[in-house]
Amino acid sequence: MLIAQISDLHVRAPGKQLYGRLDTAGYAERAVAAIAARTPAPDLVLVTGDLVDAGAADEYANLRRVLDALPMPYRLIPGNHDARDALRAAFPDHAYLAGAEGFICYTIEGFPLRLVALDSLDAGRVGGRLCEARLDWLDARLSEARDKPTMIFLHHVPFLTGVTHFDEAVFFGAEAFAAVVRRHPQVERVVAGHVHRSMSMRWAGTTFSTCPSTAHQFVLDLNPENHVDYALEPPGFQIHAWRAGQGLLTHTLPIGDYKVTRLR
Ligand SMILES: [Fe+2]
Ligand SMILES: [Fe+2]
Repeated sequence: MLIAQISDLHVRAPGKQLYGRLDTAGYAERAVAAIAARTPAPDLVLVTGDLVDAGAADEYANLRRVLDALPMPYRLIPGNHDARDALRAAFPDHAYLAGAEGFICYTIEGFPLRLVALDSLDAGRVGGRLCEARLDWLDARLSEARDKPTMIFLHHVPFLTGVTHFDEAVFFGAEAFAAVVRRHPQVERVVAGHVHRSMSMRWAGTTFSTCPSTAHQFVLDLNPENHVDYALEPPGFQIHAWRAGQGLLTHTLPIGDYKVTRLR
């Protein structure tokens, strides 16, 4: 089973650029083309939040135009730049966006690896939140399939990254979230976005990893006095490869036109 992950597309309305200079929709189109070109093809694509930049209807329409070019199914979750109602309105045929408890939380069944989507959006804040309702829902979902290898996906990162911009925006419910995950050893992995770069860490008895942005990356500045800047490092995406008997292996790929040279 192959799962592609893309994150932090920050798509804007047609003709509009992020910060007046980044064509994020164009970047998203190149990510879609990179995934569509893969053989073997991923079984599905997870898009882990900050789908658009301002939660606006014309941005979601543009996002949809870009993502509908994917030849395989894709599943969405919101990030801090998203708005649930506008997202649902643009994807009325994506029934799973109805979610649970008012949040865009759902499971994806029918694959050897079970996928659990968590909505960590806390409207009006940069940081994430998992309230009691969402964590009770997660605990119930994980309790009903204890023997099924599972990957959780959400937007935010529930631990300190060393980058001041992210660490100042507290993730409410981080400890309770960790406690739920720790109770369920079938959780092979938790994946997220938000930090616009690839990171991985042992967390709550499992492995936590993040996906680069399809557009701009945040500079890795570990000086606590500095605030974050972005850089046009190569954009990227990830392929999570599930192999029964082995586990989940993650590949991080840059998006761009890189010359392939034959070894022999
Ligand atoms: Fe983002
Ligand atoms: Fe974010």
